[in-house]
Amino acid sequence: MPGVAPWWKSPFRCTCTEFGHCLVFLLTQINKWQDSAIRTVQDRTRELPSFLGEIIHRIPLAAPPTALLLRFSHRQGGFMLLADKVVVVTGGGRGIGAALADQAAAAGARAVVVADIDLAVARATAQRVGLRGTAVEAVRADVGSPADLDELARRTREMFGFVDVFFSNAGIAAGAGIDATARQWARAWSINVMSHVNAARIVLPSMLERDSGAFVITASAAGLLNIPGDAPYAVTKGAAVALAEWLALTHGGRGVQISVLCPLGVRTDMLVDALNAGHETARAVVASGPVLEADEVARCAIEGVAEGRFLILPQAQTATAYAEKAADPEGWLARHRRATAVPAS
Ligand SMILES: NC(=O)c1ccc[n+]([C@@H]2O[C@H](COP(=O)([O-])OP(=O)(O)OC[C@H]3O[C@@H](n4cnc5c(N)ncnc54)[C@H](O)[C@@H]3O)[C@@H](O)[C@H]2O)c1
Repeated sequence: MPGVAPWWKSPFRCTCTEFGHCLVFLLTQINKWQDSAIRTVQDRTRELPSFLGEIIHRIPLAAPPTALLLRFSHRQGGFMLLADKVVVVTGGGRGIGAALADQAAAAGARAVVVADIDLAVARATAQRVGLRGTAVEAVRADVGSPADLDELARRTREMFGFVDVFFSNAGIAAGAGIDATARQWARAWSINVMSHVNAARIVLPSMLERDSGAFVITASAAGLLNIPGDAPYAVTKGAAVALAEWLALTHGGRGVQISVLCPLGVRTDMLVDALNAGHETARAVVASGPVLEADEVARCAIEGVAEGRFLILPQAQTATAYAEKAADPEGWLARHRRATAVPAS
């Protein structure tokens, strides 16, 4: 092509797309190898005491060539390690959110902001997380209020400079079927969907500007597989998964990691209270797979983000059922109906 020097004559000003493709291919292959090597190390260290596991996790990433590749893989939407990051968790006062805050600190976060509608529980969690030596702050924020979310981001930036990782985790159950009141439906949309939309509007632009960050939505396996009983919950969790997909399609691969966490049952107040009240949804959740501890789910989420995963499924059953649903929707519905049918109490 006239006027364009071939890459071998102009090594510092490459204009040859083939060379660019070649380099991208090569780095992608190395990155894949590096990814699987790190995953193997992580798998082998999972059984070790957590402090040993953490040290070993960091060794391969500390090597200079890997650090260079890490920059590349990060641009591909690859790794988002929590070490030295500023992490915000909504609904961080209890349950999965509190475990995410704690595990983020255990993974070496520079600062953790625990946001909750209930300031007292946010403070209690922050105090516990602070024992790990991480800078922590408790903030009262109702995720249903865009003004509260704005203020949460503003305060985080003021205190710590950036928001690197945002766990948009707070969510609520309605405890009613299709006949839930208009108020219950509106509240479910506000907390389980619009809170993520508003948080993304607020924190994503600066992540995209810096080419770095992670935005993680806690949806639910109910968002992929539905659940009998609580219609507002099942429907809005489906929308939360769709939102995460939209964000990943639109912004993924630009240095910002988008993930969606979809657990089945987790032993938190949300599930235990609903079980104690005899809610059909809670009984169906327990019937469909193992109930995990919040810490297990949080560890899985943090590993998933570090590995650059979009869909994070703490229970293996969810992946199997999701594949079955895609392959045979009618058969899956019939089986799912039977599997989640709960005897009348
Ligand atoms: N527990 C489960 O079995 C399960 C399963 C799948 C998904 N989830 C999802 O995980 C997330 C966390 O659930 P959990 O089980 O830890 O619940 P939880 O009820 O134990 O804790 C939720 C926390 O969120 C806070 N919160 C509630 N409304 C809020 C609001 N408007 N603004 C800010 N904070 C608010 C609460 O004060 C509480 O501290 C939710 O999105 C939930 O739907 C839970």
